[in-house]
Amino acid sequence: MNFDRHRRLRSSAAMRDLVRETHLNKDDLIMPVFVDANITGKTEISSMPGVFQFGIDSVLDEIDEIVKLGVKSVIMFGLPDHKDEVGTGAWEDDGIVQQAIRLIKKNYPELIVIADTCLCEYTSTGHCGVVKDGEVLNDESLTYITKTAVSQVKAGADIIAPSNAMDGYVASIRAGLDEAGFINTPIMSYAVKYASSFYGPFREAADSSPEFGDRKGYQMDPANRLDAMREVLSDEKEGADFVMVKPSMAFLDVMREIKNHTVLPLVAYNVSGEYSMIKAAAQNGWIDEDKIVQETLVGMKRAGADLIITYFAKDVAKRINEGE
Ligand code: PBG
Ligand code: ZN
Repeated sequence: MNFDRHRRLRSSAAMRDLVRETHLNKDDLIMPVFVDANITGKTEISSMPGVFQFGIDSVLDEIDEIVKLGVKSVIMFGLPDHKDEVGTGAWEDDGIVQQAIRLIKKNYPELIVIADTCLCEYTSTGHCGVVKDGEVLNDESLTYITKTAVSQVKAGADIIAPSNAMDGYVASIRAGLDEAGFINTPIMSYAVKYASSFYGPFREAADSSPEFGDRKGYQMDPANRLDAMREVLSDEKEGADFVMVKPSMAFLDVMREIKNHTVLPLVAYNVSGEYSMIKAAAQNGWIDEDKIVQETLVGMKRAGADLIITYFAKDVAKRINEGE
């Protein structure tokens, strides 16, 4: 009889540990944090159980928990106290994210604070750029996006993560940062960002739904694979230090494709809708949340992700700490 005995290497937990190819580590995790200028304390996001918006008075409690669990990085989103056509709240010196970053870096200098750089939480239109005659203008938006990035770094941000999906934002932000003297601040580009329905719960969390139309004129068509490579090639040329694929679960093929063609660290964004689906099923008792989360995130790493932005970051760190 001649056949392969694959089961030899699956015979015990120790044997499986020995030959495991992919590992999920605390170092891989980035936790999103929402800070809201209009509240004190914290408010749970109804479509994302276990995820909260924090007032500036309570954000350090959350950061403290994150740090104690051993998560080394957060990405910041803001809800401003006013919105206008050019998203002033995104780039003013005492904007809510700028305030939060200053506070966090003062108290937790070691924590890597990433700033999401976009206008949609701050514009009255809810679009990621400035709008004229019903159109989201590209080059005009770059001015405000770059101002936003510079003000975030001035406040202490360690990494700039532009999610606005305008063309040329990496080049524009890089030039802006360099000119302001921040030559050493990396850019984590949301290079491959699909126009996805999986962002639904986030738009409640960040109050950033477009007032009219959708984001299909600037975010990518989910049916396209080669377009993802084009985006990555542009962002590499423009000076990106990381590239991201977003969302994750329905785009793992794209992740692998990118991993095989770039030498930059690859980030997966496990987005809000992916979180909410798992939470909802788990709350109904239909699935085992911890195991499903592990399998999902390991899948992203296996697909090539080096880092994962995930609302499960704290939960996963807790589980790793408990040795499960
Ligand atoms: C802002 C932004 C979005 C997300 C991250 N940054 C929403 C969007 O583009 O509509 C989505 C994150 C998530 O769904 O968890 N541009
Ligand atoms: Zn946006």
